[in-house]
Amino acid sequence: MKFFADTADVAEIRELAEAGLIDGVTTNPSLVLKANRPYSDILKEICDVTSGPVSAEVAATDLDGMLKEGRELAKIASNIVIKVPLTLDGLKACRTFRSEGTMVNVTLCFSANQALLAAKAGASFISPFIGRLDDINLDGMDLIAEIRQIYDNYPTIETEILAASIRSPNHVKEAALIGADVCTCPAAVIKSLVKHPLTDKGLEQFVSDWKKTGQTIA
Ligand code: E4P
Repeated sequence: MKFFADTADVAEIRELAEAGLIDGVTTNPSLVLKANRPYSDILKEICDVTSGPVSAEVAATDLDGMLKEGRELAKIASNIVIKVPLTLDGLKACRTFRSEGTMVNVTLCFSANQALLAAKAGASFISPFIGRLDDINLDGMDLIAEIRQIYDNYPTIETEILAASIRSPNHVKEAALIGADVCTCPAAVIKSLVKHPLTDKGLEQFVSDWKKTGQTIA
């Protein structure tokens, strides 16, 4: 499974990229609001840090607006993926961008039927939002499982399942068990995956015992 960083914080992205932990990045208007910097500057810097897919979301909701903005965003770098919402106009924009050779991430997916339509529109990525379904007492992972099964039923579908709205290490594990192609996570979630109390305890013991041997290795 590939990992994308779900953030517009370039310093966070740089740290994760240097550690070899990420294969791409996703951004959205809320993350840009948090970063409080010009979107084009953020995207340029992210594309300098990673050569993997970098999702840049359109702000317009009408077809013409999405096409205009998406084409502008796509000029930033060759690894920009235009992110469009899962609406009728979003699907039309997806089809057009794909015919122009631009990758597209269809976002705000909350049902398997929506994911089917995104695949039909030629989406490079479909983003089902796990955490937001959990927030309303549904099980976001059921959606990932449904989409996985449907996409696997039709081998001509090339759309990758990008598990989004990931809130915890368990979300990551479950998405991987089901077979999501990509998980996009906040930096804190990616970093938390390395943690285990028995690793810390075991390491402490080894460090302490090694000191007692009085030996050095190099
Ligand atoms: C996905 O591309 C979105 O940027 C993101 O995963 C949304 O997550 P949230 O529901 O935690 O805001």
